[in-house]
Amino acid sequence: MKNTRQACIVGTGMFVPPKVVTNSDLERIMDTSDDWIRQRSGIEKRHVVENGVSTSDLAYEASVRALQDANCSARDIDLIILATLSPDHQFPGSSALLQQKLGLETTPSMDIRCQCSGFIYSLNVAKLFVESGQYNKVLVVGAEAHSPILDFTTRGRDVAVLFGDGAGAVIISSNIGDSPSKIESIALHSQGQYADRLWLERPGTAREKWITASDIEEGRCFPFMEGRYVFKHAVERLREVVLEVLEKDNLDIEHVDHFLFHQANLRINEKVAELLKIPSQKVHSNIQKYGNCSAASIPILLHESLKDGKIKKGDRVVAAAFGAGFTWAAASFIY
Ligand code: ACO
Repeated sequence: MKNTRQACIVGTGMFVPPKVVTNSDLERIMDTSDDWIRQRSGIEKRHVVENGVSTSDLAYEASVRALQDANCSARDIDLIILATLSPDHQFPGSSALLQQKLGLETTPSMDIRCQCSGFIYSLNVAKLFVESGQYNKVLVVGAEAHSPILDFTTRGRDVAVLFGDGAGAVIISSNIGDSPSKIESIALHSQGQYADRLWLERPGTAREKWITASDIEEGRCFPFMEGRYVFKHAVERLREVVLEVLEKDNLDIEHVDHFLFHQANLRINEKVAELLKIPSQKVHSNIQKYGNCSAASIPILLHESLKDGKIKKGDRVVAAAFGAGFTWAAASFIY
C-alpha cells in the first residue's frame, strides 16, 4: 500500500551567540594568521559562547525561532531530536535538557551522535517517525558549543581556528494539502576504521581510567584531526553520496536548484562542486562568518538561504555532510 504520509520541513530557525572572534583575534592568542586561515579554509570569523552558555542553550534559541517560523508551539512537538558532538554533559543527552528548557514535561527526546553528519541522520530519523504515523511533529536541532572543548594555544591551532558555535533547527511534519514539499531520499554511511583520524579521544571508557593527568597534559582531551587525510576522504565521499541520493530519486545534477554542503572547509566544497560540475551559484556557503559548526552547519545554512530568498518554496535541495566517524550522508528534499 502506498504511504500517504510524506514528511517535509515546515519551519526553520537558527541562533549564534553574539560574541564574534575574528582571525585577527586568534593571531593575538596563538601562532596563526588571517591569511593562513582564509586561504586554507575560507573562514574569516566565528561566533563563540560566553562562559557557562551550553549547547542546549543554543539549541533552545534556535528551536524557539523554528517553532515560530512553523507557526506552532513547543506543546505541538511529539519528539525532539538533537544532533551534537559537544553535549552539555556526558549524560544525560542534551536533548533532555532542551526539552526541559522548552517547558515540556514528558515529550520524548534523543541525542544523535554522528558529528558533522548528525543533522542529516536526524532528518532521516524524523522522516521515518512522521511517515510511519507514530508522530506528527518532530523538532530536529543541530547545536554545538565547540569553543569550550578547543585548545586555543598554538598546540591546538590546526583544529581550533576552524570551528564556531551555533545552532540550527527545523520542524518536520507530514505534508498536507497540495504543497510540493517533501523529504525524498536520504543516504547514510559510516566507517569506524577511520575513527582515530578525527576524534576527541578522552575522557572515555576505552582505557583503564576515564581520564588521567597525562591525558590532559598531552592534549588528548582536545579534538585531534589529520587534516589532509580528512580533506581527501571528505571530497570523495561527498561526491559519491550526492550522486547516490540523486540516483535514488532518478535525478541529475541539473535538476537540483541548491546544494547545501557541510561547512567544514570552503575548498572541500569547491572541489566537490568542480568534480560534479555544479554551477557555483547553486552552492551556498556561510563558513566565512561562522566557521565549522558541525551538526549545526547545514540547518543554519538552510535557514539563512531561505531567509535571504535564495531557496524558494518548491525548490529542490540536496544537503550533504562528512565528518568524524567517519560518517557521511546526503538528503534530497523539496522545500
Ligand atoms: N595557522 C598557521 N599554520 C598552521 C595552522 C594555523 N592555524 N594550523 C596548522 N598550521 C601549519 C601546520 O603546522 C603545517 O606546518 P608545516 O608545513 O611546517 O608542518 C602547515 O600549516 C600545513 O598544515 P596542513 O595540515 O598540511 O594544512 P592543510 O593545507 O592540509 O589545511 C586544514 C589544513 C584546513 C585542516 C585542511 O586539511 C582541512 O580542511 N581538512 C578537512 C577538515 C574537515 O573536513 N573536517 C571534517 C569535519 S569536522 C568534524 O566532523 C568534527
